[in-house]
Amino acid sequence: MSKLDVKYLGLDLASPVIAGSSGVTMSIDKVKTLVDSGVGAIVLKSVFEEEINRKAWAMESSAENCPEVDYIGAYIRSNSLDNYLEYIMKVKKTGIPVIASISCVSSKEWTSFTKLIKSAGADALELNMFFLPLNREQKGGKYESIYYDIANDVVSTVDIPVSVKIGPVFTNILNVVWEFYLRKIRGVVMFNRFYEPEIDINRLETVSGEIFSNPSDLRQALRWVAIVSAEIPQVEISASTGILNGPAAVKQLLAGATTVQMVSALYQNGPAYVATVNRFISEWMDKNGFASVSDFRGKLNYSKITSPELYERSQFMKYFSNRDE
Ligand SMILES: Cc1cc2nc3c(=O)[nH]c(=O)nc-3n(C[C@H](O)[C@H](O)[C@H](O)COP(=O)(O)O)c2cc1C
Repeated sequence: MSKLDVKYLGLDLASPVIAGSSGVTMSIDKVKTLVDSGVGAIVLKSVFEEEINRKAWAMESSAENCPEVDYIGAYIRSNSLDNYLEYIMKVKKTGIPVIASISCVSSKEWTSFTKLIKSAGADALELNMFFLPLNREQKGGKYESIYYDIANDVVSTVDIPVSVKIGPVFTNILNVVWEFYLRKIRGVVMFNRFYEPEIDINRLETVSGEIFSNPSDLRQALRWVAIVSAEIPQVEISASTGILNGPAAVKQLLAGATTVQMVSALYQNGPAYVATVNRFISEWMDKNGFASVSDFRGKLNYSKITSPELYERSQFMKYFSNRDE
């Protein structure tokens, strides 16, 4: 048994370092390198309901007068899903725990797909949920209830562990995680980092923002991992965003994360970088006298540190005002 072993979503992982949902995990060669480098688990890229529907609708509208129009839409849907299911089976053959990911808009379609994902051999399922609120009259709670309905339906459909990947923008993150827990969600991934628009002032155009994280992106999740792991220990946390190296991974584990997910760092340094991160964690543990990850996990969370206000502080107020003096 390696000292980096952890249990996450009931699965035995050789390391707390997970390759997060992205194109990196959709290449079998990269997956093999990740496995050889000691990755704990793989989260596959999300299947996007919206994307599949858009493809099916485009085909349906171009075949509007065709008597088989319904069949064409259904074929596109099932073909897209079949490719995903086949890929799950391929990755499973490497022996690594596989977490499938779906991005839901409605619960209806996804409960049947969830069953297929399970039968293809996925060990767990991550729900990538986000609805951009664009209706000024809709109260925030109404959007949240859509998340809870989807979680409810998916959890009651399959018996594999289900986690939810959330964004950082909620009025009360603790309540959101608690509501998921009440619906038997085993883990939360905090946080997803979404596509962001940028403006090019020379071309007077809206363009895509930087897609990779920078080191300071770690801190927003660090606060909430520390607080949620202390207040809702029943839910396992997989930290995500800004974990670009070994020290960042150790920080999230100290804050209370059970696992850490990496994406930008794997795009930028290649999948073998996981070995460097594992080595750093292992050497740091030796230096600090920790024999297993559970010996230090959460050691600096909200309930364990002597000054929890360090996690509560959000305004600079007087405390930092003498910086300029
Ligand atoms: C190119 C790219 C593709 C991604 N695709 C997905 C996806 O399909 N599903 C998902 O839940 N997150 C996706 N993400 C978000 C990542 O899983 C991760 O949450 C985010 O990049 C923050 O982690 P990082 O700082 O390690 O990059 C993607 C990120 C990138 C950069």
